Amino acid sequence: MKNSINIFEREEEILLQTYKRIPIKISHGEGVYLYSKDGKKYLDFFSGLAVNALGYGNKKVIQAIEVQINKFIHLSNYYINTPQVELAEKLVKYSGLSKVFFANSGTEAVEASLKLIRKYFGPEKNIITFSNAFHGRTYGSLSLSGKEKYKKYFSPLLPNIIQLGFNDLEKLEKNVTENTAAIYLEFIQGEGGIKVASNMFVEKINELRNKFDFALVADEVQSGIGRTGKPFAYQHYNIEPDLVIVAKAIGGGLPLGALITNKRYDNVFQQGDHGSTFGGNPVACAAGLEVVNEVFENELVKNVADLGNYFKSELNLLHKKYFDKIVDVRGLGFMIGVELPKPCVSLVDKFREKGILVNCTNENVLRILPPLISTKENIDYFINIFSEILSEDK
Ligand SMILES: Cc1ncc(COP(=O)(O)O)c(C=O)c1O
Repeated sequence: MKNSINIFEREEEILLQTYKRIPIKISHGEGVYLYSKDGKKYLDFFSGLAVNALGYGNKKVIQAIEVQINKFIHLSNYYINTPQVELAEKLVKYSGLSKVFFANSGTEAVEASLKLIRKYFGPEKNIITFSNAFHGRTYGSLSLSGKEKYKKYFSPLLPNIIQLGFNDLEKLEKNVTENTAAIYLEFIQGEGGIKVASNMFVEKINELRNKFDFALVADEVQSGIGRTGKPFAYQHYNIEPDLVIVAKAIGGGLPLGALITNKRYDNVFQQGDHGSTFGGNPVACAAGLEVVNEVFENELVKNVADLGNYFKSELNLLHKKYFDKIVDVRGLGFMIGVELPKPCVSLVDKFREKGILVNCTNENVLRILPPLISTKENIDYFINIFSEILSEDK
């Protein structure tokens, strides 16, 4: 009886309705494509919101998972597991920082960082975050959020958090003091509409950090692991954060997040101060090692830098041609936003009808997050379809 009703109706009946589901029944994925049960093929320029860096069905990731599950799927953090140590070594190598704590998600890695900051700086000092910032949905990370719509039903949130305008140098200068414990920054805001921190803004943060000695926390959950054409987005600037938070792509599709600290903060946590049953799961770390090898060591990050520039220049040509239908093109590497003069939900529907999956964020920003393995042909296909949609839009 149950099976005779549609899966969408069953989902609505049985799951809390926190997600707006896309109306396709996915059967499987392969490379940069997702396939639906009715046989349609979709170019996935959404890639699980920046999780599926190597696309679907990557053989090396699958093999690493298979090898690991035959040893053990889970091992308590009372024991050392080798993939965890090896992945931490790579994260330290490519970030230039010192040590790692593994969690299961972005929001959990943010929570870990908040506890570390509070322990080091004490309960009174302020934490600064920015308008439109997104750091996750648990209470601590939600307290950092610059998006009122996510916070409005959930007070009381954490105290001593100050929100300033993103890229607003004046406000920064006025509000950062000796009472500042930390600044949380997405060098490129993802959820907030692919907004890129200006060089001047980052320089000012650095200058103020030298003066007031707070911690700079880079949230690289979306922008990290090669997505912007460098291992981490902050590497496009002349600055080194004190703490770096990663998740999404780092687990090869399995739940994994990490907090990376520099030398100064690497012994703030003592045994028992923080922990997680599943954090740093060996299968997720084994999968993550393959991602890091492909992205950092097999030059995929270079592909992203080159093709990201090409993609943006093609989008800018469309911007020139359709100056009344596109407000702005921005981003770095394969983290690109196209701002439209109106909400972009219907545009996303049109893309889907034409076989492309893409996301809309902050109401009117088309968020393009292709898998890092995407080719020039994939990009050209996207551009042709976008051009077609724009020409049809009267
Ligand atoms: C910049 C940023 N930080 C934190 C998070 C939260 O990560 P998660 O959904 O894994 O908890 C996200 C998720 O989109 C994000 O984009």
